[in-house]
Amino acid sequence: MGMVLGVLGSGSGSNMQAILDAIDAGTLAARISIVLSDNPEAFILERARQRGIQTAVIDCRGFKTRFPEVAQQETAMQLKAAGADLVCLAGFLRLVKRPLLDAFPERILNIHPSLLPAFPGLESWKQALAAGASEAGCTVHVVDDGMDTGPIIVQESVPVLAGDTAESLHVRIQALEHRLYPEAIRKFS
Ligand code: GRF
Repeated sequence: MGMVLGVLGSGSGSNMQAILDAIDAGTLAARISIVLSDNPEAFILERARQRGIQTAVIDCRGFKTRFPEVAQQETAMQLKAAGADLVCLAGFLRLVKRPLLDAFPERILNIHPSLLPAFPGLESWKQALAAGASEAGCTVHVVDDGMDTGPIIVQESVPVLAGDTAESLHVRIQALEHRLYPEAIRKFS
């Protein structure tokens, strides 16, 4: 019962794992019907396969960072075919634009490791540390056509502690992410 989720990720998939754990624990009424990655080596695909979840590799036609239109179209078709009604970006490293945005209007969520609108883009925890911020955090938002913009669903902070390294701060933020993403999906539904 509940929502049918499609997940897009490029990396380890720890956030997808947190979503699966919340589903298993009965705290999130949803199921993940498909996991797609632009990186055939990404561990998120392995995690999905181990759970018997359908997976697919997004063929970005050799582009290193762009998400070409044809690949977005194929992704949209696969998500629809899998019955997804909500798309969760979980460490997906390409900017989602049209036509994928139009296929799921206001139905694509993203998790970002900062207190947006502060520190959009890559490795935000390093940006926060370099800026001497006293707080960092995590945001789940609806995806629009900007980079890490769009209406915020949930946001929470963690302290930056004296002696923090990029790694120690990242660990603290990731623990928060894993709690916040399932919460945001529940709240959004
Ligand atoms: C997370 O830090 C997320 O906020 C960012 O990319 C990372 C993905 O980690 N957008 P994982 O693949 O979910 O482990």
